[in-house]
Amino acid sequence: MALSDRPAPPPSLALAGAGSADHALHLTAAFAGFAAYALMVGTVVWGVLTATGVVRRNIRRETLYGGHMTMAIAALSFILVHAAGNVFRPAAHLSLWAASIPFLHSSVGIAIGVLSAELAIVTSVSVWLQRRLGYRTWQMVHWLGYPTYGLAIAHTLLAGSDVRQPLIAIFIAVTFVIVAALVALRTLPATSTVRTRLAPAES
Ligand code: HEM
Repeated sequence: MALSDRPAPPPSLALAGAGSADHALHLTAAFAGFAAYALMVGTVVWGVLTATGVVRRNIRRETLYGGHMTMAIAALSFILVHAAGNVFRPAAHLSLWAASIPFLHSSVGIAIGVLSAELAIVTSVSVWLQRRLGYRTWQMVHWLGYPTYGLAIAHTLLAGSDVRQPLIAIFIAVTFVIVAALVALRTLPATSTVRTRLAPAES
């Protein structure tokens, strides 16, 4: 029988099909969102440990930067899957435009997510432009990694529907405390007692 000759499914079955497709896309988007969040935390943590020299004693510099970049690229890939999953999800009512241009969407939570994704792209791409920008300018651009994380956690808390699940709430709280502690460590002068204890100067 030709496709066009097939009788249309009853409306209730068609609705059930649309519902399960939406559910599958929701799960995919949510998984990709949490994976992106975890990788973003990993990128920031690894970046601070590298910059402050805490892990430099035992691991070669190239390996450290390789790990940092691999996590950043993986985070960007999951952000892409997450955003696409939400755009294709009928119940999210999210257009491609609203997922690409910050604050086009009426929900501040989603707009913040779009901004975070775009800052993540700028921060990552700046690495390839390091020579052209010069070290100082590049470093200033790369500091955008911190607000990128701040916006990502704000977006997760404001837009997420699973963040009240106890395990997820604990995961978000623990990762936030770790990042906050490392940011505090990064802002300490390199000569401060805490930093010199954790990362003695290379001889
Ligand atoms: C173009 C950028 C983005 C768009 C359009 C977007 C869209 C959305 C939407 C619509 C939701 C709500 C889903 C629901 O109904 O539960 C959501 C939740 C979420 N987003 Fe994003 N997001 C973006 C960027 C990001 C970024 C950069 C991260 C983290 C690195 C992220 C992580 C999450 C997480 C963890 C949730 C919670 C999922 C849940 O609770 O089920 N998103 N996002």
